[in-house]
Amino acid sequence: MNPVLETLLTRRSIRSFTSQPVSKEDLQTIVNAAIYAPSGMNRQTWQFTVVDDADTIAHLAKVVGAADGRGPDYDFYKPTAIIIATNHKDSRHGCPDCSCALQNIFLAAHSLGIGSVWINQLNATCHMPAVRAELTRLGVPTEHVVY
Ligand SMILES: Cc1cc2nc3c(=O)[nH]c(=O)nc-3n(C[C@H](O)[C@H](O)[C@H](O)COP(=O)(O)O)c2cc1C
Repeated sequence: MNPVLETLLTRRSIRSFTSQPVSKEDLQTIVNAAIYAPSGMNRQTWQFTVVDDADTIAHLAKVVGAADGRGPDYDFYKPTAIIIATNHKDSRHGCPDCSCALQNIFLAAHSLGIGSVWINQLNATCHMPAVRAELTRLGVPTEHVVY
């Protein structure tokens, strides 16, 4: 089968991860795939914030869990890396642009043998002060919405 179609048809959301780190090279490849996604009027107003420190990811998940009532055990399924796709809150194409980029992320990861899943909880909580403080600490622009 055509390798692109095979990647498309065999990708599935993965919610159980090993503790194996994702290499910097693979993360760079995946983010590069994201920035090659189409964007409305080619504005590319997105940002992709990569976090590959397990403690930092666990802390962010806890703060999100507290913010949306999931409780302190919330863990994003314990990944070794996350990519936070964001766009300016006033961007007309923020959500579709990030959605295209996220699909590229999932497909690129899958083609490298890396499982991934969309986590939506940061979208609902990114405006809450405790979550926003963590996002700011990680370098997410204050005017950006998380997708
Ligand atoms: C907009 C969107 C939000 C999603 N949010 C979550 C989520 O918060 N947690 C999760 O485990 N999966 C989430 N998913 C993954 C879907 O549950 C998954 O894509 C769907 O069940 C189909 O399974 P597949 O990706 O394996 O084909 C989301 C997917 C999309 C497109």
